[in-house]
Amino acid sequence: EIHYATSTGPVNIATLKYWGKRDKDLNLPTNNSISVTLDQNDLKTLTTASCSESFKEDHLWINGETYSLETPRSIQVLKDLRSLREELEISNNELPKISQFKLHIISENNFPTAAGLASSAAGFAALISSVAKLYKLPTDYSELSKIARKGSGSACRSLFGGYVAWEMGNLENGEDSKAIQIADRKHWPTMKAAILVVSDMKKDVPSTSGMQLTVKTSDLFQYRINEVVPKRYIEMKESILNKNFQKFAELTMKDSNSFHSVCLDSYPPIFYLNDTSKNIIKLINLLNEAAGKLIAAYTFDAGPNAVIYYEEENQDYVLGMLYKFFDKLDGWSNDKFNPANAKIFDSFPLSSLDKEIYSQGVSRIILTQVGEGPVETDDV
Ligand code: DP6
Repeated sequence: EIHYATSTGPVNIATLKYWGKRDKDLNLPTNNSISVTLDQNDLKTLTTASCSESFKEDHLWINGETYSLETPRSIQVLKDLRSLREELEISNNELPKISQFKLHIISENNFPTAAGLASSAAGFAALISSVAKLYKLPTDYSELSKIARKGSGSACRSLFGGYVAWEMGNLENGEDSKAIQIADRKHWPTMKAAILVVSDMKKDVPSTSGMQLTVKTSDLFQYRINEVVPKRYIEMKESILNKNFQKFAELTMKDSNSFHSVCLDSYPPIFYLNDTSKNIIKLINLLNEAAGKLIAAYTFDAGPNAVIYYEEENQDYVLGMLYKFFDKLDGWSNDKFNPANAKIFDSFPLSSLDKEIYSQGVSRIILTQVGEGPVETDDV
C-alpha cells in the first residue's frame, strides 16, 4: 500500500532581508525579516509526498530529475516530521504506523528553473506541507515553519500567504524562531510585483556561505542588525498594516541597499548586483522622481534579478515604463497588461537614456501579485 498527499508551496521575496545566522545548525537568524508571498498561479512548487513499506530509501525528484535527500538539512527536516508523526502514532493506536516508512517526494516547479529564481523556499514549503498532510499533523503553520527554517531560512516565510514576518527569537533551542502572518493578501490586494529576470545567472556566492562571511568580516553588519533592522522591522510592519505604499517602498529599497552594502563590506567583498541591476535601480529612481512620489520599489536578493513592487493604480506608469525599455522580453501578457494603456510621464527623461544599453541583460519579465500560502490539493 502507498500512502500519499499533495500540496503546493509559494515563492516569497523579502522586503526586509534575512542575512546572517546566529546558529548554523538550527539555522537561527541574526535579525527579524519580512517578506511578501507571490501568487502561485505564476510561481509555485507542486509536491506529492508518498510513503510505503516497500520503498527502499528516501528519494526526491524535481522536474523529473533525481536528487538526494541525504543532505544534512533534508535529513533534519524529515527527522522532525517523522518524530511528530511518531508522537501521533503513540497517542493514537488506530493510526497506521507509517512514520518510519521511506518517503518518495515528487516535485514540480511551474516556472522555468532557467529563470534562476530561488526555488528552495517554495520547495521546502511544499515538501513540509505535503508530508504534514500525509502524516495528518496539526496544521499549525507557525509550528511547521520552524521545521522549514531548518531546511532553508527563507523557506519558513513561504508557509504563509500575504505579508509575513520571520521572528528571529531569542531562545538557544530556536523554539521561538518562527514565521507569523502580518496580514493576508486580501488586506492589501492592490499590491503587484514584476520580476525582471537578469540573464547572467551565475550565482556569485551561495547565500549560506555569503552570510557567514558577512557575519565574520563586515563591521557595517553590526550596525545593520543592532541599529537599522530593529527600527525598520517595526516601521515596515506598520506600513503594511496601514497600506502606506510610500513608506513601504522607501523601507524596501533602503533595506535592499543596506543588504547589498554589507555584502560589499564583507572581506573579500561579495557582489550580487551587476550592471543590469544597477540600471534597473536607476530607472526606478527616475520613474519615482518623475511621478513626484514613490510609485515603485525595487529589491534584490542574492543575485542580479530585480523584483519591483507597485500598486495597481500605478500599473500603467510602472509597467508602461518597463515596457518602453523591455518590450522584447518574454513574459508580457495582454491580459495582465495591455501596452496600449502604457502611460509615460512627459517629464520622464527617456531621451537621454539609451534603450539599447538599458534593455540589455534582462531576459524575461514575470508579472504577478501577492498570493496565498501552501494549498493542499487532491491533484497528483
Ligand atoms: C538574500 O534562506 O537561502 O534571499 O538559510 O542558508 O538557506 P539559508 O539561506 P536562504 O537566504 C535568503 C537570503 C535572501 C534574503 C531573504 O530571503 O530574506
